[in-house]
Amino acid sequence: MTVRIAPSLLSADFSKLADEIADIERGGADMLHLDIMDGHFVPNLTFGPPVVARLATHCRIPLDAHLMVDDPDALLPQLAEAGVARVAVHVETCVHLHRTLSNIRELGMERGVALNPASPVESLAGAVPWLEFVLVMSVNPGFGGQGFIPESVSRVARLRAMLGDDAIDITVDGGVDTSNAHALTAAGAKTLVAGTSVFGASDRNLAIAALRRCVLED
Ligand code: DX5
Ligand code: ZN
Repeated sequence: MTVRIAPSLLSADFSKLADEIADIERGGADMLHLDIMDGHFVPNLTFGPPVVARLATHCRIPLDAHLMVDDPDALLPQLAEAGVARVAVHVETCVHLHRTLSNIRELGMERGVALNPASPVESLAGAVPWLEFVLVMSVNPGFGGQGFIPESVSRVARLRAMLGDDAIDITVDGGVDTSNAHALTAAGAKTLVAGTSVFGASDRNLAIAALRRCVLED
């Protein structure tokens, strides 16, 4: 599996989202990361399924939804209808994780579980058979532009040891840039979400290329 770069739309200019998506597609982005926040699970509000459905009509690369909401199950049918390729739900919000992951699969999307920085990676051990990817948060979820939490690298390595080969993707989200992309991919990450380091750059093509030069491929 080659390393994928997934720019996070949270750091884009919200007044011209279609143009912003076209820009990162031209720059060679592999997926578009969509941060859906409800103002309860995290202290910020972004957008929901109706906006995602409209964005999908402007996007050719796969949509990667990250649900930072108290009730992820309520959003799943509309996200599937919008054409979302994969969905990450937070382990901290899912009392019935197996049921939620089953719902995602039945709706035809890839299943991911997101872990806050303080949630033990071992808490996912029982859920490994039900997953296509794990989203390791390397900042506290809620906002773009925060500093990378350095312990995230060793968390990725522990998770990769637990998961074995690359059949299950490890995605890292938060503060990812050229200073940590090499260490994260050396530890076993296969997808890098990048908000500020891509959308905050004046030339997104150069920013994506710079990240790609840092990653360690198999
Ligand atoms: C934070 C979001 C991230 C965020 C990343 O809650 O989950 O996806 O957009 O942005 P940067 O790369 O700026 O930390
Ligand atoms: Zn995210």
